[in-house]
Amino acid sequence: MPARKTRGKFITIEGLDGCGKSTQLERLAAVLRADGVKVLETREPGGTPVGEKIRAVLLDSRTSGLSPRAELALMFGARAQHVDEVILPALADGIWVLCDRFTDSTEAYQGGGRKLGSEPVLALHKLLCHDLQPDLTILMLSDVEASVARARRRNLARVPSVAPATEAQPNDENRFEQESRAFFQHVATTYKAIAKREPKRVFAVDARRAPDVVHQEIVAAVRQRLVVGCRSSVVGRKS
Ligand code: TYD
Repeated sequence: MPARKTRGKFITIEGLDGCGKSTQLERLAAVLRADGVKVLETREPGGTPVGEKIRAVLLDSRTSGLSPRAELALMFGARAQHVDEVILPALADGIWVLCDRFTDSTEAYQGGGRKLGSEPVLALHKLLCHDLQPDLTILMLSDVEASVARARRRNLARVPSVAPATEAQPNDENRFEQESRAFFQHVATTYKAIAKREPKRVFAVDARRAPDVVHQEIVAAVRQRLVVGCRSSVVGRKS
């Protein structure tokens, strides 16, 4: 009989729009790969063909009148598919899954920002996502004004339009960036509350510093919290 594979690790990265998390995720993936770890990078909302379609609806600024509960349901529709189709099979196969956003985003944005509260988010996570918990969550703590301004600048090129998406005029991803400062303050406060509630899982990093410094801290946290006793080659290696 073939030997049973060791389950992969599940790492998520969280933070406000424009906090630099996607770059940090890529850099962490590169370090792990260089150490011989099999890594899958994925994102939410999205990560599957169906999930990417749901993402387009959720993020396009032409999606108007979406109620907070409908938004919550769509986030979990995409996530349930992602967990079953991609995340759980990869982990079972010994692959480390690095996911740009997960259920903490829903708790922060829909629970906090949209004021639906944490309870329905955690209940839906149990019901639809097998209550899957990341082995480690990296929370990028950033300045609300600066992060959102950066995300808006980044998306400025994708001009919103009332016409249906075409190749020439694709979906934009600006719907959340148009929210108010108060909305993002609620998101940030909820993230901090999650970190306080679950200090073992959530590693909060001050993301206002130089990306290289933030990267080193993230790599150190991953090694310290996940790699010890797992792969000695990864422990000793410098990035
Ligand atoms: P993302 O692509 O990570 O955008 P950014 O790079 O700007 O951070 O996420 C898209 C948006 O979706 C972001 O504004 C946060 C929002 N979102 C939620 O509101 N709830 C969720 O559960 C998820 C996964 C994302």
